[in-house]
Amino acid sequence: MIQFLLNQELCTEHDLDPNLTVLNYLRNVRNKTGTKEGCASGDCGACTVVLAEPDETGKRLRYISVNACLTFISALHGKQLITVEDLQNKSQLHPVQEAMAECHGSQCGFCTPGFVMSIFALQKNNTEYCKRKTTEALSGNLCRCTGYRPIYDATKKACNNTKADTFDALEQPTVELLKAIPPITKEGFRDSKHQCFSPQTTDELAKCYQDHPDAHLLAGGTDLALDVTQFHKELTTLIYLGNVTDMKGSDSFDDRLELGAALSLSDGYKLLKNEYPDFGDLLHRFASLQIRNQGTLGGNIANASPIGDSPPLLIALGAKLQLRRGHEKRIINIEDYFVDYKKTVRQSAEFIEKIIIPKQTNSLFKAYKISKRLDDDISAVCLGINITLENSIIIEARAAFGGMAGIPKRASHCENALIGKEFNESTFEQACQSLVNDFAPLSDFRASKEYRLLVGQNLLRKYYLETQTQLAQGNNRDYSLTRVTAYV
Ligand code: FAD
Ligand code: FES
Ligand code: FES
Repeated sequence: MIQFLLNQELCTEHDLDPNLTVLNYLRNVRNKTGTKEGCASGDCGACTVVLAEPDETGKRLRYISVNACLTFISALHGKQLITVEDLQNKSQLHPVQEAMAECHGSQCGFCTPGFVMSIFALQKNNTEYCKRKTTEALSGNLCRCTGYRPIYDATKKACNNTKADTFDALEQPTVELLKAIPPITKEGFRDSKHQCFSPQTTDELAKCYQDHPDAHLLAGGTDLALDVTQFHKELTTLIYLGNVTDMKGSDSFDDRLELGAALSLSDGYKLLKNEYPDFGDLLHRFASLQIRNQGTLGGNIANASPIGDSPPLLIALGAKLQLRRGHEKRIINIEDYFVDYKKTVRQSAEFIEKIIIPKQTNSLFKAYKISKRLDDDISAVCLGINITLENSIIIEARAAFGGMAGIPKRASHCENALIGKEFNESTFEQACQSLVNDFAPLSDFRASKEYRLLVGQNLLRKYYLETQTQLAQGNNRDYSLTRVTAYV
């Protein structure tokens, strides 16, 4: 059984297929058709809805936008689901809707419910209007006819409207209603053919996975849901990680950060940004806000995509993974996790429990993402590079690329060309030439093999030029020059 609030209505659902997405639940089970399906793959944002849950103080609500098309119903337990139909108060439009109408932010209207919900989440998080935050909030919403200027105008108008709305008036009762929902049992919920287990702790998860080694682990679902929405697969047994609270936390030690694998990308990257500003910059180029709110760091590593954005960065930083099966735990270097295209060392019933990232010493870390579009696009090439110098000599170099091979991979020839050499242009030219011995990239619709190789070399040159300027200014921890803005 799952329980949640559909706006203010307490819903208790039995017998739901865990393969049901929130979008199909709304449209087909509840006949609420305001939320639209554009792509069913997380790309257009027409299906955007807002989830609210008590924040860390337990007194206020935290509102996040998510793609209903990629969110399975299991994610709703204990949360408030708000859709575009819920914004209007009796016959009075919500200030966001009013602003969209007044600023002419809608033409055919198909994308409009999604935009309204993204702006609503931004406004509800008490965000004063700021163009950068608006771009971030709307980067997962596509409009093919209005043009974005009126939508930005509407966002400004809505965010500058500080008048309390019905959601403010009902915030405290909503917090109480949500707190009164008992935690879901570890048995989760099921229909006659499918089951979704919902462990609450890593111990329960480890046991459940051993009992059901063929189950699919479901974290944010931004990857797994595509199996259902695009490839029409039926996932018979799921184990949902969203309620495993000890895998959603983080610990900071003197020498390392430990991040739970089920931490959302939005939360995980915020922590990483304090230590490594380039991680923060890359966050803005990772999918869309909706995907980052839902997707997890563990999922981004576990799916072993050769074009995942976190792995090259984490490899360059020398991160480790804690894997767990039953009571057995092992710690491996993250680069050893990836074996071949989508093949990993993970054994049956084993899962990623946490990611361990060394803290910044005096090394020079940078991250670069190359994609066809600046926002909400998958990498053609991604580079994480981290170099340690001693008296202008490179004593350690780690350069890891995504998009250049079947797995995220270190460029060992290139690293060898750097280690022990003077930090200068000619050393980096040598490293660029060595890259051809590291990779034989493929051509696909994102980039040709020639382009990938050339851009990989150019990123190494860019790294040299940027860090050299930093060093010339006598500050190897000044990241003001660091920008993850390179794109095709
Ligand atoms: P899920 O879909 O829940 O799981 C993915 C896989 O990992 C599943 O096989 C699952 O069983 C397994 N898994 C999850 N957690 C664990 C665990 N702890 N231990 C073992 N196995 C586990 N990715 C990028 O890197 N950069 C992008 O820019 C990007 N853009 C995207 C844009 C769109 C529109 C979409 C739909 C996806 C995009 N992705 C991108 C891919 C995806 O969003 C990320 O890889 C995300 O981090 C996956 O995390 P998740 O929690 O949603 O994983
Ligand atoms: Fe396009 Fe969900 S329908 S993102
Ligand atoms: Fe038509 Fe945006 S108004 S797609």
